[in-house]
Amino acid sequence: GATLNARDVGGFIQPHFPMSETELKDLFKNMPNYKFRDDDVMLLTFPKTGTNWLYEILKMILNRSSEYTEDVKMETMMESRLVADIDTVKSPRIMNTHNPYQYLPIKGLQEKQIKTVLCLRNPKDYTVSHYNHMRSIKLYEYDGKWCDWLPICMDGKLEYGKYTDYLKGFENAIKQGVGFPLHVMYFEDLKSNGLEELDKLLKFLEIDLDTALRKDIIHKCGFDQMVNKNWDATNFMFHEETEFNTKGFMRKGSVGNWKTWFTVAQNEAFDKQWNSEMEGYNMFKFRYA
Ligand code: A3P
Repeated sequence: GATLNARDVGGFIQPHFPMSETELKDLFKNMPNYKFRDDDVMLLTFPKTGTNWLYEILKMILNRSSEYTEDVKMETMMESRLVADIDTVKSPRIMNTHNPYQYLPIKGLQEKQIKTVLCLRNPKDYTVSHYNHMRSIKLYEYDGKWCDWLPICMDGKLEYGKYTDYLKGFENAIKQGVGFPLHVMYFEDLKSNGLEELDKLLKFLEIDLDTALRKDIIHKCGFDQMVNKNWDATNFMFHEETEFNTKGFMRKGSVGNWKTWFTVAQNEAFDKQWNSEMEGYNMFKFRYA
């Protein structure tokens, strides 16, 4: 099943990262107070909504260079690594997590006023992308059918839970004031308007880059270029016959791929459940094509 090789952390389902129960308990207990460095940038994403993409862009921005680095987001993924290990990563660091708002290092972010980027993606493309992720990575041993995956995903019976809960958590928090600098952006806008989205990011980060470098960052972080990055560094075991193949986290990288997966009936059921769960929440507006 989809929750195979996942772990329940007090009702919150996580991938089975390599650490003991005690280490995991300590990690979550100490998470709120994590001691950031002044020059850390924090990247928040739900799974499959642009983590690796934004990680690369942010890394290039902080390095003031359009060279790919050997770095991978796993090294600073806060729910997957022991604090002692994360603390050995050299600056500038792109700290990142898929955790929902209640499991963020909130006090740490507030204390150092860490610049934090939240990247969101439309839920239908997310659902398709997560399905392929589960089927592609050997660790999960998941070979469920698409029609069986949909309810699992919509009901949040998988790692990181429901996307609607994630979004509602953020909307509530933003309305109350998060107390640290937060920039919200969308996968779909980055796809269609890269340079504009990069400029918004740069303004938020208070970093100036010349036009040639800005253009080259967007070029190098385009889907076709990023496929050529050395993805072996992520150490994932991919099934050879899947769409991911050896391209790591790069599958299609498009907006609207969900249309080739959802039947009309599945789409209607999805909309119905989504709209009912998101009733009263309208902060985040998604583009589906
Ligand atoms: P698809 O499965 O729809 O192709 P994450 O990094 O959060 O795991 O998200 C992975 C998704 O982002 C995948 O979506 C992947 O193809 C897409 N992606 C990664 N880099 C991208 C890029 N440079 N341009 C467009 N999409 C990208």
